[in-house]
Amino acid sequence: MNSLQATHFSLVFPARNLPRVFELDRGNRFASRVKPPKVSSCLVSDAQQKVEASLEPASRESKEVMEMERNVFVGTYARAPVVIKSGRGCKLYDVDGKEYLDMTAGIAVNSLGHGDQDWLNAVVEQANTLTHVSNVYYSIPQVTLGKRLVESSFADRVFFTNSGAEANEAAIKFARKFQRFSHPDKKLPATEFIAFTNSFHGRTMGALALTSKEQYRLPFEPVMPAVTFIEYGNSEEAKKAIQPGKMAAVFVEPIQGEGGIYSATKDFLQALRTACDEAGALLVFDEVGSLNFCSHKQLDFFSF
Ligand SMILES: Cc1ncc(COP(=O)(O)O)c(C=O)c1O
Repeated sequence: MNSLQATHFSLVFPARNLPRVFELDRGNRFASRVKPPKVSSCLVSDAQQKVEASLEPASRESKEVMEMERNVFVGTYARAPVVIKSGRGCKLYDVDGKEYLDMTAGIAVNSLGHGDQDWLNAVVEQANTLTHVSNVYYSIPQVTLGKRLVESSFADRVFFTNSGAEANEAAIKFARKFQRFSHPDKKLPATEFIAFTNSFHGRTMGALALTSKEQYRLPFEPVMPAVTFIEYGNSEEAKKAIQPGKMAAVFVEPIQGEGGIYSATKDFLQALRTACDEAGALLVFDEVGSLNFCSHKQLDFFSF
């Protein structure tokens, strides 16, 4: 495509600059003793090189921005060689005015597109009224949004977080606390977790422990212990592993997004629901932006 290019490629790079992260340590603590491990960024795909080869050479302005980025940022993300300046609806424009079709939406977060007028009005109005008060006080928009979410979903309560990883961290803590709370007389309540092959739950230490892909996890070990990985979709193995008094929670993505789109079957999710109920374990659905604790009611949500 000449004037209209798709930007899905912004997802797809192996991280290039990790050794630079280590070199940044002036005392060279890592560089002298540890060979920097090869770490890949989220959503890596071989398509990257083909896409990069198909792009026109970067303009001077783009090159300057990329150079500046290399000089001041820790190199954990390998970005597409495109400097985006503005967006409108589902279109993006780079510093040279070239138009792109936005296939990533900020990785599935700009669901209204760029510059949606109603969203813009709401943001401007709110920023002009009250900017931020933390959770130390009540505020009307926060409570109103919570109420709306509860009314329009299976959930009885909401818990707001800043990211998917943080939502999973909260779920880990809720699960541990739930087990302590429901077995007050037990010295060692259930503390273990199950996650599945091909899973991705985030980059913090707890969420990383639930992430099956070794390239994400191994460079940072030891992560949170006591996580068992089971083949995604294997109900029999999962049922065997979901032991009462042992498993605090099972984390599953009803639709896996990392490394391909894999959808769980109704039977698999139903088997997890039943096994968790029987074992007194929680079942956590990681749905990227919307992490939910499943109750029996959730099955209605998925039209079970
Ligand atoms: C299923 C799933 N869980 C958790 C996360 C982590 O979300 P965040 O990047 O907002 O921490 C992602 C991110 O892609 C995800 O796909």
